[in-house]
Amino acid sequence: MTRQIVSVVGGKDAAGTDTYESTNPARIAEVVARVGLVDAQTFADACRTAKEAQREWAKVPAPVRGRVIASIGRLVEANAEALAHLVTREIGKPYAEALGEVREIVDTCDFFLGEGRRLYGQTVPSEMPDKKLFTFRNPVGVAAVITAGNFPVAVPSWYLVPALLCGNAVVWKPAEYAAASAHAMYQLFAAAGLPDGVLNIVFADGVQTFQGLELALEEGTVHKVGFTGSSEVGRKIGELTGRHLQAACLELGGKNPMVIMPDADLDLAVEGALFSGFGTAGQRCTSLGTVIVHESVHDEFVERFAQAVQNAKIGAPEQDVLAGPLLDQKFADRYEEYLTWIQPHHRVVSGNIGKITDDAPRRDFTGDGGLYYHPVVVDGVKATDQLFLEETFGPIVGVTTFETIDEAIELANLPGYGLSSSIYTTDARHAWKFREGISAGMVSVNNSTSGAEAHLPFGGNGKSGNGSRQSGMWVLDQFTRWQAMNWDHSGHLQKAQMDVADIAPDMNFRL
Ligand code: UN1
Repeated sequence: MTRQIVSVVGGKDAAGTDTYESTNPARIAEVVARVGLVDAQTFADACRTAKEAQREWAKVPAPVRGRVIASIGRLVEANAEALAHLVTREIGKPYAEALGEVREIVDTCDFFLGEGRRLYGQTVPSEMPDKKLFTFRNPVGVAAVITAGNFPVAVPSWYLVPALLCGNAVVWKPAEYAAASAHAMYQLFAAAGLPDGVLNIVFADGVQTFQGLELALEEGTVHKVGFTGSSEVGRKIGELTGRHLQAACLELGGKNPMVIMPDADLDLAVEGALFSGFGTAGQRCTSLGTVIVHESVHDEFVERFAQAVQNAKIGAPEQDVLAGPLLDQKFADRYEEYLTWIQPHHRVVSGNIGKITDDAPRRDFTGDGGLYYHPVVVDGVKATDQLFLEETFGPIVGVTTFETIDEAIELANLPGYGLSSSIYTTDARHAWKFREGISAGMVSVNNSTSGAEAHLPFGGNGKSGNGSRQSGMWVLDQFTRWQAMNWDHSGHLQKAQMDVADIAPDMNFRL
């Protein structure tokens, strides 16, 4: 069944001027949804509509907004299988992972429904008597949220749920190739009783979205931008919002390192490298980029890792597989380009590379006619290689070696990203040293580079972001602005810093 999908602005369908076909990457001839794409003007109109609706939404008491978030969570839970199947069909994410992704929305709602009864401000002592100081969290206004399709529902929920809870309205622009999943999620949010215009979903291509965002920022109808996607586009959005004196919440790419110390449990490390390198076909922004393994255990690790990769099940994502197809044709095209970065000094230890075909087959492969690629492990990567320095979204992992932990940390930081990282060690001193030295926003010890939980801060440094953090209490600073209030009830003007009581010390006092 092919869905027909259009944007929804102010609770009403907004027809597109162009059509995009979102296809099933496991069976590329199957169109999951025909999506109407709107132009820049319609994007800007949606921001205006959101601004209008936000005024009333902000007046709804936060605990009542929290109840709406609770309803969203329950609705998502009740529709979990249907939503997960749709995610699997539209982007090829293995069903078990898709269910986990849906769970992450529920977790996010569970966390923020309580925040509706907290959203604490402070009472602060004043310098003067009969004067009280307070802080309040105010909603920012309208959040424009632009998301990728590798986590088509969980990652958007990290923006949408706290933004709405804090009293903001949202214009959400999901990835076109994950439009059906996003539209289904929109419907679940709307069914929870959000007033029209508080959440709007807009389908548009990148160029129109950028222009629409520019128009809205000029008009003053967008007050926060959330963006998950490539470092390249993140830079442009950062520039644009910077010109409007705004700091976007940017969640960008990663080249996530895994350091394996000589004292590591190698079986555990292999398991972690397999999942973080090739789970989700290597298409998480937290996916493993390079294994940095101590030279004394290099040969042993590489042999076991190559074996594990060769044995891993790749195929139809409705089945119990480690990885399904790549997300969409454009990701497959880009991935093929990354494969050209493999140089003569490299050694591919995982077997075939490229698309899985009759000429380049794979054992136990269960896929048919989709964007399926061999998982690739490249040994002998050097710190100057493009393969080492740049993100390679897809199923490819590099391996390099080190002698000292200081060298390992330096290598781990060298590409200049800073999203996630991991170390395998049985020595606590190595774990603490790594934590202190690594530039990433997330550090795993004896665990894979992926696996953030919904109530920890998530975000990157360097090329992975601008230091903003999503999730947990930390994201509240993205979707609220602190307001400081002072209230003088002394009945006369008391001047701060000047009319302050002085208690004189005896500075000459000595024991
Ligand atoms: C992403 O790829 O954009 O930790 C986010 C993880 C997931 C989130 C990934 N919970 O891998």
